[in-house]
Amino acid sequence: MDKINILQDKKNQALKGGGEDRIASQHKKGKLTARERIELLVDEDSFEEIGMFVEHRSKDFGLEKEIYLGDGVITGYGKINGRPVYVFSQDFTVFGGSLSETHAEKIIKIMDLAMKNGIPVIGLNDSGGARIQEGVVSLGGYADIFYRNTLASGVIPQISAILGPCAGGAVYSPAITDFIMMVEHSSYMFVTGPNVVKTVTHEDVTSEELGGASAHGSKSGVTHFTYANEVECIKGIKTLLSYIPQNCEDFVPKTAYEAGDEARLKLDSVIPANPTQPYDMRDVIHEIADSESFYEVHKDFAENIVVGFARLAGRSIGIVANQPAVLAGVLDINSSRKGARFVRFCDCFNIPLLTLVDVPGFLPGTDQEWHGIITNGAKLLYAFSEATVPKITVITRKAYGGAYDVMNSKHIGADMNYAWPTAEIAVMGAKGAAEIIFKKEISTAENPTVKLDEMVNMYTENFANPYKAAARGFVDEVISPSQTRQKLIKAFEINETKAVKLPKKKHGNIPL
Ligand code: HXC
Repeated sequence: MDKINILQDKKNQALKGGGEDRIASQHKKGKLTARERIELLVDEDSFEEIGMFVEHRSKDFGLEKEIYLGDGVITGYGKINGRPVYVFSQDFTVFGGSLSETHAEKIIKIMDLAMKNGIPVIGLNDSGGARIQEGVVSLGGYADIFYRNTLASGVIPQISAILGPCAGGAVYSPAITDFIMMVEHSSYMFVTGPNVVKTVTHEDVTSEELGGASAHGSKSGVTHFTYANEVECIKGIKTLLSYIPQNCEDFVPKTAYEAGDEARLKLDSVIPANPTQPYDMRDVIHEIADSESFYEVHKDFAENIVVGFARLAGRSIGIVANQPAVLAGVLDINSSRKGARFVRFCDCFNIPLLTLVDVPGFLPGTDQEWHGIITNGAKLLYAFSEATVPKITVITRKAYGGAYDVMNSKHIGADMNYAWPTAEIAVMGAKGAAEIIFKKEISTAENPTVKLDEMVNMYTENFANPYKAAARGFVDEVISPSQTRQKLIKAFEINETKAVKLPKKKHGNIPL
């Protein structure tokens, strides 16, 4: 056979993966193959494969007779909307996508190249975990990947799509990456599966209940995004990438934007007349951001805070917003963790931050205290304080107590702080405050209820407004809600050249 035919023959062999039957079985499960996923992900004809002919070195359990070219993972680089990415895609048709020594080496190779070139890495995970026949060399391969995930963290964006099983220690590579995406009913993540759970805790639980997309999307917060199917998931990767830069020294390209009338009159009536009534902060976000540009992260987890990417006059920004429609927008353990993680991602990758504040404080109670609201709330405080990207805040209504400080206040480094006339910036709500500071007057009054009302009104008039904060300069300007968008466009523009350096240190010690 002529040498070129030999090459073509080997390529054809590699393209077959684990063979027709296993590909059919993959399709029967409603899953795409590793190559089909790459094809959907990258721009047409842009993918260049690396390591197509890699073979495993295992000689145990008859494995030396079972060789599949590429060894269960397709690695290489391509472009997504014209921007380069490195990709690995695990091939479940080859030993269940399990990770051997050489499979790991292929992933490591593209991670190292991605680091050198400052290019994001996208992992399409579909794997039975460590290649059982290989033992410790497979475990070593995982650790080599975890180590690189850690070194790459904050240098290049890392995105993990979970498109099949992901179990045992294998979950820790995605966990270190910036974003995890899962697909309903076909992806699972757990440290120990249902059988082990049954043995150890006697709980009866299905894979879906234990570690499916909806469990991790709403209960644990492990996944940032969940999708109905793989095609949507792959679209999601492309959308997400459009908001983030190539690396920590790069900036996100602005999308074309034609300036128009930036007034948003609807915002003038978004705050209900009754200050205890909820409203949906997403309505505010949609009015402020460029049309259809809000891409929410962690949508179903800790819904009392909303985080996500958006564009403002074509500029990519990250938004962190209390959500008065859920638990009155209170800060608790999960919402603090969610917010902190998002703030830190944006800060790593030069994405300016907009904070929208309507927060009644931190959630009281034994459950929160015993599970560490102090440490967890501190994460959000630390993350905002440490962030050096342009940081702009708008207080729409309540900014009470410690939560006022935490939600990107002027004191922790915000660059511009706006408040709506409906803002109430105080140590606590008027009723609670009046009950404490006028306790004696109320209890000795002829009619304590009338006296309480009187004191509440007095406190409200004096403190439940933005003007005390504005008088101190803690709020730079009190603005009409309808003016918010145009104020923010200008503020982000003037802060574009912001350059702040943190004190020299090895690294901080965020309260984890
Ligand atoms: C080698 C594996 C494999 C593995 C699956 N296969 N997992 N081969 N090592 N870890 C092979 C199967 O033998 C089978 O080969 C093919 O992949 C498809 O597997 P099936 O079982 O037929 O598929 P399915 O019914 O869909 O079940 C998928 C599965 C199951 C849930 C992933 O295969 C499974 O439970 N595998 C073991 C998972 C596991 O315990 N892994 C170790 C986790 S601990 P054929 O030839 O029939 O096609 C771990 C530690 C990481 O990963 C530590 C990092 C620090």
